Amino acid sequence: LINIKKKAIRIMVNIKIDDKDYEVEEGLAIIQACEIAGVEVPRFCYHEKLSVAGNCRMCLVDVEDSRGLSPKPVASCAMQVSEGLKIYTKSERVKNAQEGALEFLLMNHPLDCPICDQGGECDLQDQSMAFGYGSSRFDGDKRAVESKDMGPFIKTEMTRCIHCTRCVRFSSEISGNDEIGSIGRGHDMEITTYLNQAVESELSGNVIDLCPVGALTSKPYAFSARPWELNKTETIDVMDAMGSNIRIDSKGLRVMRVLPRLNEDINEEWITDKTRFFWDGLTVQRIDKPYKRVNGILKATSWEDALNLAKDKISTSRPDRIAALSGDLVDIESVYALKKLMKNIGSDNFDCRQEGSRISGPPERWLFNSTFNGVEDSDGCIIIGSDLRKEAPLLNSRLLRKSRDHDYKIGVIGFDYDLTFDFDFLGKNPSIVEDLLNENNDFCDDLKLMKKPIMIIGQGALIGNDAKNFLNICIELAHKFNFINKNWNGFNVLHSAASRAGAMSIGFFPSEDGMATEEIITSYNNKNIDILYLLGADELNLERNDDCFVIYQGHHGDKGAQIADLVFPAAAFCEQNGLFMNTEGRVQESIRSTFPLGEAKENWEIIYLLANEMNLDIGFRNLSELRRRLFVDFPIVNPYIEFEPLPFPMKNQFKKLNGHKFKRVIDSYWKSNSIARASTNLSKRNAYIEKGNNR
Ligand code: SF4
Ligand code: SF4
Ligand code: FES
Repeated sequence: LINIKKKAIRIMVNIKIDDKDYEVEEGLAIIQACEIAGVEVPRFCYHEKLSVAGNCRMCLVDVEDSRGLSPKPVASCAMQVSEGLKIYTKSERVKNAQEGALEFLLMNHPLDCPICDQGGECDLQDQSMAFGYGSSRFDGDKRAVESKDMGPFIKTEMTRCIHCTRCVRFSSEISGNDEIGSIGRGHDMEITTYLNQAVESELSGNVIDLCPVGALTSKPYAFSARPWELNKTETIDVMDAMGSNIRIDSKGLRVMRVLPRLNEDINEEWITDKTRFFWDGLTVQRIDKPYKRVNGILKATSWEDALNLAKDKISTSRPDRIAALSGDLVDIESVYALKKLMKNIGSDNFDCRQEGSRISGPPERWLFNSTFNGVEDSDGCIIIGSDLRKEAPLLNSRLLRKSRDHDYKIGVIGFDYDLTFDFDFLGKNPSIVEDLLNENNDFCDDLKLMKKPIMIIGQGALIGNDAKNFLNICIELAHKFNFINKNWNGFNVLHSAASRAGAMSIGFFPSEDGMATEEIITSYNNKNIDILYLLGADELNLERNDDCFVIYQGHHGDKGAQIADLVFPAAAFCEQNGLFMNTEGRVQESIRSTFPLGEAKENWEIIYLLANEMNLDIGFRNLSELRRRLFVDFPIVNPYIEFEPLPFPMKNQFKKLNGHKFKRVIDSYWKSNSIARASTNLSKRNAYIEKGNNR
């Protein structure tokens, strides 16, 4: 008997599938019940995450209820189970129906399999083999459809389209742009984009996975590999702070493509286009050797020389004139190693908050406490100082889904952008949060009605001298309304950088005595520091300064390397194992899928070698020792400890805001980190925006 776990009270019904008894939840579609029972029913148009279209007729089954056998087979995706229903999936009539449906589909299908990019992973191919007739009785001309230009990511071959409309439903239900649709009817039906424009959604690449045939395929991956040639590594994404689960497919030393992995708690089965297409940036502008600046020019050198030079410079500087900043794509272990090094040197000047945000204190003050899944249980939302669509497109998509619920209200303070759903724009001034606290805003009437609202505070709301005070006001607001109550914690801070939550968890920010990012930058510009160590920190926009010796450790010749005097070549995130904490506080491991380029080394190892060169004992000699110490010092980043909800953030003293402003933390979505900036795929997409095609 089958037990389906659901939060709500479940009513079960007894059914028979192919003469075997099952107990399943009332309201399931027959196709879902069969899936749970392990009975395969072929389908093209049905998809768990999309509305039911019922147009391919591939999922036909026979059903028998108290009135007897139905006069014709029924579409199992469009009919629900009910008490006593008998379902037959292998009867002669079903077999004929399946063969007939496939024969009709193939009648107009080009059968390009040997030259089709979908070959080897095509639902139509597989289902024709398993359920097809084996030959065709049609010998007329086949229909041909002009291919469409859907932009730099999606290659179209519309003659292969079987009109399942999955892409159309995805566009309206998940990405929210309504930019793919169908025109014409019957023989003349075509799938196309709105006004023949490129698709603009940040999630558009998911239609490639959804399309059951080779009508929509990946343009950058086209004709570069067959699925059976690829090494598949299950890992996580670092293009934003959501920690989407992905699979990296590589061939030799090259990453060939990135696909999503199912994780209902995080990314469900989607990924953003930035995640899907960043991979070509891994081979461009890479730093593959150590470099040192000689007469103003970076020249290649040996590891020995580079480490020696770093040692000389650091050991002849005053510890309080040495500072370090960590970047957005570095793993927790490397940041921990750098913290150990800085502490051993005697400097407290280190920070991970590259954009200058002022979050601090216990993790419940700066994590996404409701979790992404918790968004599903919420009954309202307020977004503060965040461009959600750029900072976390998949979270934005979850909110799009919620926004369709009756009475789900969304208020936005800060940026009035197109988020793909309707919201009440309350204004751009942070002081509106104070108005809400004083019940001086109409939106308070909505807030009072909400039992489980969520608050999403972006990093752009937490920059500047008054940021800590502003965060305290937000926490006060959360306690005043139902954002925080006995059974609910809807207080959420959203990060946009993959490394940030992990680095914050291990305290990579200064104590009272040390300098934070803003002070480090000011000191650098005013020549008040001698050494600046950049661990993959590429978002600072600093000018070169001859009076400060800059050591850059990273993988791309990007903004950090340009101002450096010494460059250590490091592995990119997918070239080494490393831990990352996502914005919910969930720790996951990024797994090596290819090897570091040239002479590059793993990030933690470079710091260990430098410490060794300086005769400093930072407490580990290999990654296992490092992790052991890390988990003792900071159990919160141990991925083997079950992910637990945190306590409620405590109220703190606050005062009236004084000139606090929101800032945008992502200027260009497609160029938000060093790998993305090196990617031609993403640059092409960015060029569409710059042509004014979309945002
Ligand atoms: Fe063959 Fe599938 Fe491509 Fe059609 S879509 S040509 S069946 S591989
Ligand atoms: Fe279905 Fe693909 Fe055609 Fe879209 S393009 S309707 S997903 S077959
Ligand atoms: Fe049921 Fe297409 S899967 S009609």
